[in-house]
Amino acid sequence: MSLLIGVPREVFAGEKRVATVPEVVEKLIKLGFKVIVETGAGDSANSSDDAYRAAGAEIAESAAALWSGADMVFKVRAPNDEEVGMMREGSTLISFIWPAQSPELMQKLAAKKVTVLAIDALPRQLSRAQKMDALTSQAGVAGYRAVIEAANGFGRFFNGQITAAGKVPPAKVFIAGAGVAGLAAIGTAAGLGAIVRANDTRAEVADQVKSLGGEFVKVDYEEEGSGGGGYAKVMSEGFQQAQREMYAKQAREVDIIITTALIPGKPAPKLITAEMVQSMKPGSVIVDMAAEQGGNCELTEPGQAVVKHGVTIIGYTDLVSRLAKQSSTLYATNLFRLTEELCKTKDGQINVNMEDDAIRGLTVIKDGEITWPAPAPKIPVAAAKPAAAAVPVAKKSHGHGEPSEPMSPKNMAIMFAVAGALFWLIGAYAPIAFLGHFTVFVLACFIGYMVVWNVKPALHTPLMSVTNAVSSIIAIGALVQIAPPLAADIVRPDAVIRWLAIGSIVLATINMFGGFAVTQRMLEMFRK
Ligand code: NAI
Repeated sequence: MSLLIGVPREVFAGEKRVATVPEVVEKLIKLGFKVIVETGAGDSANSSDDAYRAAGAEIAESAAALWSGADMVFKVRAPNDEEVGMMREGSTLISFIWPAQSPELMQKLAAKKVTVLAIDALPRQLSRAQKMDALTSQAGVAGYRAVIEAANGFGRFFNGQITAAGKVPPAKVFIAGAGVAGLAAIGTAAGLGAIVRANDTRAEVADQVKSLGGEFVKVDYEEEGSGGGGYAKVMSEGFQQAQREMYAKQAREVDIIITTALIPGKPAPKLITAEMVQSMKPGSVIVDMAAEQGGNCELTEPGQAVVKHGVTIIGYTDLVSRLAKQSSTLYATNLFRLTEELCKTKDGQINVNMEDDAIRGLTVIKDGEITWPAPAPKIPVAAAKPAAAAVPVAKKSHGHGEPSEPMSPKNMAIMFAVAGALFWLIGAYAPIAFLGHFTVFVLACFIGYMVVWNVKPALHTPLMSVTNAVSSIIAIGALVQIAPPLAADIVRPDAVIRWLAIGSIVLATINMFGGFAVTQRMLEMFRK
């Protein structure tokens, strides 16, 4: 018998997300499950009951009907007391839980003898876990939305413009904290044309900031900022002093500050003081993404947008919900990937395999027994890196999207031996004239390879265009054909060949001038 997955309507005030969307319902059904969705659950995320029905889900008319029937419940926010009360013994819940901050909830869930998979407890450092990483997918949405909120509260363009009515300078944006949300904010603000600067206590993020079009601003103080697992730690007083000085300078210069700095298990570090706010230009905007954890700015009022000293300070705690369709779709996909891991047999049954590091990390209660915290994963972990969902950087693809392995010494030796034998055969048997041309050909391939190899993938299109323009060099051949003979022994080509040569020169000229002009226009697009 297939298990029934239930998706209730979120009851937390202001929560607009839903744990699955119609597109993902179809995939769950293909995995062998049945799906039931509470009526109106997707209304705020642009997913109507009819859309769920069309995707193959049933609609439950009440929360009680849904909770009592479902074998597995997918949720966004941790359940409240009433919801826990409706849970069926032996069922499974997948949701954000925050077990460290919610010991009472954990006890209540354990008493219901259920199994609970806390999506926030996923061991994010496992490379296999990235597709299920809801913290990352949601932080990426929040970072994007923070920039949109900043743009909404800011009275000018983000990009610089030269118009008939005058010159507009680009907005300057400073991002405090370059984790997943910070990097998404950098990419979005840079995409809108702003000048973006960012700072983080973890120096290793500097390259990621640059790759997204931002400038990393260092604190003039040597201290390692990584507290393990890719997360930050509380910094020394000396560092904090140096950081305050740098932030005060940035506050005077920039138009927008977006703060994302968090330290797991600790209140958000206070980075923007009241004096810094006061020193900002009137009309500036601060978006404090850490508002829920106490805020990175002293003057933030969680959940509100306020104006203080002429600066709009946005402390919304529902940034992800403000993009409900997008965040719900990404969250639903994370849960679907997790369901695939739980149901490898594709028969609508799940196996909560406690030997699997990712599943073990997520499982905070197993059949009524609290299994949190999980031991650290045993298998090798991927190096901490920005999560793919949040960072739209082009990766080098090698056919199947997998990174290429360097060639082993043995294969390299075989390759050289084969190439050597081939050259020897050509040298021994080919005519002298061919050898000359062949040498030029091999050298040209080598030089071409060395030149092209260092060109960034984004510039490959202009590279092709300029190569096309350069190929017009063949015009020289045609010029030789129509030129008057220089010596008596050179026979003048007949009329047909001359006309063909004239035609070639015309076409090569179009190719040459057109090619260079198009390349120039393409390169303009990359210049700011
Ligand atoms: P977060 O939300 O806990 O923190 C946000 C950022 O604030 C972090 O980059 C942190 O270094 C920074 N921060 C803390 N205190 C600060 C201060 N006083 N001043 C300036 N910046 C400060 O972290 P998030 O975004 O959830 O993830 C952090 C990192 O974890 C990511 O950037 C990534 O490198 C790593 N990670 C790795 C994954 C993987 O390997 N698969 C998956 C997800 C995250």
